[in-house]
Amino acid sequence: MNMPMRTDQIITDWQPHFPSLFGKHTLALSHSLAASPLFTDDALARLIDAAPRDGYHVNYSQKTPGNPPKRREGEIKDLSGAEVLEIVRTGNIWINLTQPAKIDAGYGDMLNALYDEFEERVPGFKSYKRNMTLLISSPNVSVKYHADVPGQCLWQVRGTKKVYIYPNTPPFLSQPALENLILGQARETDMPFEPWFDDYAEVHMLEAGKMAHWPLNGPHRVVNENMLNVSFTTEHWSDELRRHYAVNYANGILRSKAGFKKLNQNVSGLSYYAKLALAGAVKFSPLNPHKKKVYTVDFQVDPNAPEGIRDIQGHTYSK
Ligand SMILES: [Fe+2]
Repeated sequence: MNMPMRTDQIITDWQPHFPSLFGKHTLALSHSLAASPLFTDDALARLIDAAPRDGYHVNYSQKTPGNPPKRREGEIKDLSGAEVLEIVRTGNIWINLTQPAKIDAGYGDMLNALYDEFEERVPGFKSYKRNMTLLISSPNVSVKYHADVPGQCLWQVRGTKKVYIYPNTPPFLSQPALENLILGQARETDMPFEPWFDDYAEVHMLEAGKMAHWPLNGPHRVVNENMLNVSFTTEHWSDELRRHYAVNYANGILRSKAGFKKLNQNVSGLSYYAKLALAGAVKFSPLNPHKKKVYTVDFQVDPNAPEGIRDIQGHTYSK
């Protein structure tokens, strides 16, 4: 299908053969969103100022070469958004703003525009439960090896980061590890990692104006270059992604509750429909009340502390 020439396009280097790759292989593309006024210092400071406690995470992990240790969770108190940005610029933290569209509808409009464009470009692709998270991170921060449950894209807006993307199959992602992640029995960053996994990773240097979309549940880790980074992730569901979710959800139940060991991941045929029914029955029954996640906060963002964080007495919050 020939795309009409558009001046408002978000993906600027789309090729006619990309629909056959979309969702099945990693696509690293160029986009036009880096220049948006939604990502200036002022816009980011306003978002931080307006974010409620359940609308942000601030994280820290110790600087080490390779895959970093577990991240710590912190809080922002008595600081303006502009002050926080300055601390990110010189410290060792990253901030996730998880609901920018609730604060400013412009982010939601952007989210819809970019998915609408993919739907226009990829025949048969229909996305829903779209979500955007904004990431503001310090120079050289790295994010631990993990996989995400929904479909994912990473969009680079300012700075440069290196993204390692690994195959979404064993040994990089074991079936039980994926099932635990989907069942909510493991944090997404609890996945086993071996340094030699890197030999099998696709490595993309994401500069401002680049984005990547990789196959469902593809494990990945991210390393910032030596500057402030601003990026955002977009998440989505489609009928095809939901089928994979349902079968892995059901497999997780069968493995953990009924002791099954060998479970296929087919998304058609009799076993699939039985699993779909099981996933539906369990998910909406009292067996699986929607669990809130509990976070333990043990630092506060502090402009006068090394790396921008000060240890505090640990306390928890849930959302
Ligand atoms: Fe991720």
